[in-house]
This record gives sequence, structure tokens and C-alpha cells, in this order.
Amino acid sequence: MEDTSSKPRNLGGSLPVPNVQDLAADEITPELLERYLRGADAPAAAVKASLVVVPVVDLGRLVDPAHAEEEAGRLRAACEEWGFFQVVNHGVPEKIIGEVKEDVEAFFRLPLAEKQAVAQGPGGIEGYGQAFVVSEEQKLDWADMLFLSTQPPEYRSLNFWPGTLRASLERYSAEVQRVAADLLRAMARNLGLGAAEGEMMASVADAQAMRINYYPACPAAHEQVLGLSPHSDAVGLTLLLQVSPVPGLQIRRHNSWIPVEPLPGALVANIGDVVEVLTNGRYKSIEHRAVVSARHHRVSLAAFHSAKFDATYAPLLAGEPPRYRTIAAEDYVKLVLSSKLQGKNIMDAIRID
Ligand code: OGA
Ligand code: NI
Repeated sequence: MEDTSSKPRNLGGSLPVPNVQDLAADEITPELLERYLRGADAPAAAVKASLVVVPVVDLGRLVDPAHAEEEAGRLRAACEEWGFFQVVNHGVPEKIIGEVKEDVEAFFRLPLAEKQAVAQGPGGIEGYGQAFVVSEEQKLDWADMLFLSTQPPEYRSLNFWPGTLRASLERYSAEVQRVAADLLRAMARNLGLGAAEGEMMASVADAQAMRINYYPACPAAHEQVLGLSPHSDAVGLTLLLQVSPVPGLQIRRHNSWIPVEPLPGALVANIGDVVEVLTNGRYKSIEHRAVVSARHHRVSLAAFHSAKFDATYAPLLAGEPPRYRTIAAEDYVKLVLSSKLQGKNIMDAIRID
């Protein structure tokens, strides 16, 4: 097998792999299943039962002067000690969430050929397909996804947007971007950023992309496969909507994998690599993964928040030697994709040792 790590490739381009929903619809053969079996990295071997509750932040209180200080304390602890928290009372209307959930589920119910009308192109990540498949040997995720640039509106490539999803996704996208901005503003104040608050906002609240994950049930081997391999999010702040009630997200904490079962209606927030850089490492981007169910498919919608291409990422805390390099947002995106394709961690490339 040739060495794929040194070979230049298209940015974001993945090797073609089977559609997992389609694969899972039939009796799966051992040969096909083999590419998904994790061996020692299987969730069955690693998971510890845990009843730990991920911190909860009440956004309504956070933006209400009467309660802001107390709630900001909760947010600070969640950011410093967890990197993950659930956002409740976020103000996204139930109707908007209900409609986007319904339209997303309906998209995945379409026949494969119809979903493939918005398939990824050979060199890009946007559209319907699978992400970051770089070698024929690599273990594959038990999932399909639809990846879209959603904000600002001029970043959208509508040819990848299922027509049936457009109206509800647009509405949801704007709401969730507002939630991200409210959280970031409170984080900037917690950090005492002062005049640099604007840079924090521009670095994380100006652009948004969405990854809609479809994890088919895997009755043949649900404890031997992973829906999504362990990773940290290469963006500023992620807000995850559980589209179906089936749990699956796990976060790495103190060397064990903790299942996250969000409160009904909550959005799960996590600090991404960019906020780790901006906060000079004070807020850490936490590794997480998704496991799959034996009996039910699961759908989730991750909204990733970061900067527009012309911005620059740099540590913003005054009076500390920078622990990460300053990097243009556009170069950062290129580095993220090339790191993923080489199986490397982007943080190793921008951390100052
Ligand atoms: C992601 C992600 C987790 C999930 O899309 O980056 O971590 O539960 N998703 O689907
Ligand atoms: Ni993630």
C-alpha cells in the first residue's frame, strides 16, 4: 500500500466509501462490516457507565441583568472545568426546532438516489456523504452526513441544500447563531477581555457551518463500531441539537468516556479548538465521539461557529506569553483539512512549545 500521508490531495476530498444508511438497510456481510469494526478502540471495551451530569447554563438568566452574574459564574466553571455544557432556556422557538427536526428526518428518509442529488463533489466537504476518509485501511465511521456552510448567507452553496430543508434550516441557523453570540459575549466578559471582546465575537460568531449526522442502527455489532471517531471540533463553539431522542454523544473526561444525555430541548455546547487558541488554553477543546444504537437510528445537527475567512485567530488574553501561533482564518481552515487528511491533530501544528 502506498504511503498516503505524504501525497498532496484535494482539500477536504474524501475517498469514496459506501453509504452507511444504504448498507445498514440490508443484511450486512462480515466483509463489509470489517471496515467498521474498531477492535481495541471499540466502545464496548472503553465505556464506563456513568451518571455524571454535564453542567447546565440557563441562557435566559445569562442575558438578564438580574441573574447574569450568578449564571456567568456557572458558565465560567463549565468552560474552565468541562469544555462542555447544556444550554437551556435558549430562546430558540420550539416551532423552529420542531420544523427543522422534521425536515432533517424527512431528508434521510428519501431514497438514496434523491439524497445523492446533493452529494459531495470529489474535492469538497460540502454536501451529502462521509468526511475525511483518507486511506483504504482506515476504520470507517458508522454514519453519513450532510455538511453545509450556513452563515453568512453569501457563504452558502445552495446546490448542496436539499430544497425541502432550506426554509427551516435558514430559520434555525439564524437562531442558533444568536445563541452562540450570546454565549460568546458572556465568555468574553468572564475572561475580562475588555476591548478585545470584539475580536472574540468576530473570531467565533461571524460564520457558521452545519454537519447533520445520520447514524444508522447497527444490530450486527453496535458495540464494535463508532458513529463518529474521537475528535475535537476545529471551530470556535459548537451547538449540537439532538434531532432524535436516541443518545450517542460521549465526551472524554478524566480518561473515561462519559455519555451525554441532554435535557429535553437543550442544546449541547462545546468549546472548539479556536476558543482554546483565543483563550490561550484557558478553555480547552474536549475530545468527543458518537456511539450507535443496536435498534434505532440517530440524527444530530451540529452547528459550528467560527470566523469569516478574512479574520485572524490569535490568543486574546493580555499579559500572558502566547501559547499558540497567530494564524489567518483561511490558512487555519486549510491546515485543519490537511491535518485531518494526514491523521494529525491541528493543535500540534499551532501550539508554541
Ligand atoms: C460533530 C459531533 C456528535 C454527535 O458533528 O462534530 O461531535 O452526537 N457530533 O453527533
Ligand atoms: Ni464534534
